[in-house]
Amino acid sequence: MIIAVDGPTASGKGTIAKALAQHFNLPHLDTGLLYRAVGRQAELQGMDPDSSADALAACDFPDALLSDPELRSERTGGLASRVSIHTDVRKALYERQRSFATQAGGAVLDGRDIGTVIAPEAEIKLFVTASVDARAQRRFLEMKQRNDDVTLAAIEEDLRQRDERDRNRTEAPLIPAQDAYIIDTSALNKDDAIQAAIDVAEDVKASF
Ligand code: DC
Repeated sequence: MIIAVDGPTASGKGTIAKALAQHFNLPHLDTGLLYRAVGRQAELQGMDPDSSADALAACDFPDALLSDPELRSERTGGLASRVSIHTDVRKALYERQRSFATQAGGAVLDGRDIGTVIAPEAEIKLFVTASVDARAQRRFLEMKQRNDDVTLAAIEEDLRQRDERDRNRTEAPLIPAQDAYIIDTSALNKDDAIQAAIDVAEDVKASF
């Protein structure tokens, strides 16, 4: 059983994907981390994330980079969004995601194009979304807890820019698969969002 969880940044899709993986006892891959590693590698090598050739070369990042805490930063998220528009980058990361998705026993993957490109045959597809306000507020509180010096307005602006880039790129843009279930987490707390996703997934599973 493949579970695809797609959606914009700070929608709660990562939390939901992790919880579904635990609930169904499946391995989980956060595919955004791969794009973040490419963005970070480009930065470390002094490469240009907007150059397709440079970004492709950065796909050859060492595996150890995946545990670099810097990958979680907003800045690296922005770099990831920039390298992810290049077709060559998406192709270079395809096989790794595809083999994770099709491993025996199934898997949960979260990202932007899991239900549309990486695993269109996924039995369960969720598209997790929330208003910009709700997402910015969550990210703000998260960053405050880490003592990051940020303003709500700056986070909102950054989210809008990333949404726009992720939605409008020509290659694998962020759009719900036609057969995806939309979960809007704007008015839900973490536990309720997780429960809503588990309920949908259990319903779909019971129907096949
Ligand atoms: O989910 P995230 O914030 O870690 O993703 C960072 C960026 O990576 C996101 O802005 C776009 C890109 N991305 C993508 O294009 N396709 C994916 N499957 C996952 C992430």
